[in-house]
Amino acid sequence: MLDRKFHVRTFGCQMNAHDSERIAGLLETDGMQHTDVEAEADVVVLNTCCIRENADDKLYGSLGWLKPWKEAREGRQIVVAGCLAQKDREIVRQKAPHVDVVMGTHNVHRTTELLRTARDRGAVTEIFDEAVLDDHALFPSALPARRETSYNAWVTIQIGCDNTCAYCIVPSVRGKEISRSADEIVDEVRMLVLSGVTEVTLLGQNVNSYGRDLALAARKAGSTETKLRPQFASLLSRVADIEGIRRVRYTSPHPKDMTLDVLQTMGAKSTICEHLHYPLQSGSDRVLSLMHRGYTAQKYLDRLAEARSTIDDLAVSTDIIVGFPGESEDDFQQSMEIAAEAEFDSAYLFIFSPREGTTAAEMTDHFVEPSVAGERFDRMKVVLDRSAVRKHRARIGLLEEVVVEGRNKRDPDMFTGRTRQNKLVHFTAEDQLRVGTFGMVEITDAARFHLSGVLREVTHLPTHRVRLPVQAAI
Ligand code: SAH
Ligand code: SF4
Ligand code: F3S
Repeated sequence: MLDRKFHVRTFGCQMNAHDSERIAGLLETDGMQHTDVEAEADVVVLNTCCIRENADDKLYGSLGWLKPWKEAREGRQIVVAGCLAQKDREIVRQKAPHVDVVMGTHNVHRTTELLRTARDRGAVTEIFDEAVLDDHALFPSALPARRETSYNAWVTIQIGCDNTCAYCIVPSVRGKEISRSADEIVDEVRMLVLSGVTEVTLLGQNVNSYGRDLALAARKAGSTETKLRPQFASLLSRVADIEGIRRVRYTSPHPKDMTLDVLQTMGAKSTICEHLHYPLQSGSDRVLSLMHRGYTAQKYLDRLAEARSTIDDLAVSTDIIVGFPGESEDDFQQSMEIAAEAEFDSAYLFIFSPREGTTAAEMTDHFVEPSVAGERFDRMKVVLDRSAVRKHRARIGLLEEVVVEGRNKRDPDMFTGRTRQNKLVHFTAEDQLRVGTFGMVEITDAARFHLSGVLREVTHLPTHRVRLPVQAAI
């Protein structure tokens, strides 16, 4: 495979982005080279998502484009990985017979072998239905990685999801919830810190229930001490205490499982960032119950108030769905009211998209007219934008700690960084700044999606090594 180049295109959430880093790491370890330019590649990996319908359209659009790409050079290969491959399986091959490897979400560790099999024996599909519990390679963090950035890293703490949110396809494509041992996670973060990483994001679909399965397994094995309570707060605390770590984040928590000890840990540990992603989904109790979310709007707001009083200067982001089957104008009004009351710093807003196999997809008699859902989207957006601008304006005049992410894409004389609250800042600086540098930026202006400012002081220089391309052994 010498001199062969690969390109990975990622759709979807951080889980997929993290899997992509592992796929890239495996290919590099196998002697291939990464390229940012798809046209130069010999292998293109599409790591797919199926959370909403337009994700499918995007994939099949890309595959159409890749047909002439493949025909243009002998030996080119296409891999379709990720959630849509897990869901659609043979359909991917039927719709795009030129795909060489179709592999599921539990097959990431098999990437290089599958490419070889496809080369030697023709197109291959391999989709495991479940992760094998004791196979550590199934935690993406346990595989070699080609991380996109060198100063921060994602760390998987849990795979799968045991919840049954009525609209959501994730449990069926990511399998049941399996937690990784806390010692392994802590060891990985220590190793990352040793390599110069200063920020980690702990990843799981429902991080608050982290460890429930481990406790159950321990009890089955005869332990009498282990309580069947989630262990996320203690994991968070251990990670936050690791020497050298400067920023700890996590995503996503579930409001129904959010416990006070997690909030207290966030408030007590200076390394845990003041940002909480807290998915509301709907502000109507009737819709929340149809969604199987397990909380009421009031409960959500009460916990949010508790979070804000426990953690100083907390920024809160959320996910909201409009047009869930059966959502009436009155339900939607309640969502708008709760969203306004919650005063989010930022929000991801979605129109309900039926996903085959989910309970909500069967509620066809109650589907909301697309024009009505679209209009609700626009109205909700006004509420969310208004609170984002208000929250961002409140930062003007403050000195914020920022990590440099790179040069500003639109104006190369400026830099872009991220605050502890996870807000993007575009700022000017007199000196050259390396990615991963920490500095204090005075905020001078604010918009819907970003802040602007001026660097006043560099507080910490990056220590990560500059990435060198991996050389093939022969
Ligand atoms: N595990 C994460 C969410 C993963 S999906 C969590 O629970 O927070 C990210 C977001 O996509 C969800 O929070 C939801 O708002 C949205 N989403 C999921 N399925 C959807 C669907 N069928 N239609 C529209 N939005 C959806
Ligand atoms: Fe989907 Fe709900 Fe699980 Fe999140 S918690 S991944 S929304 S089923
Ligand atoms: Fe993520 Fe999309 Fe899969 S949101 S878990 S990549 S379906």
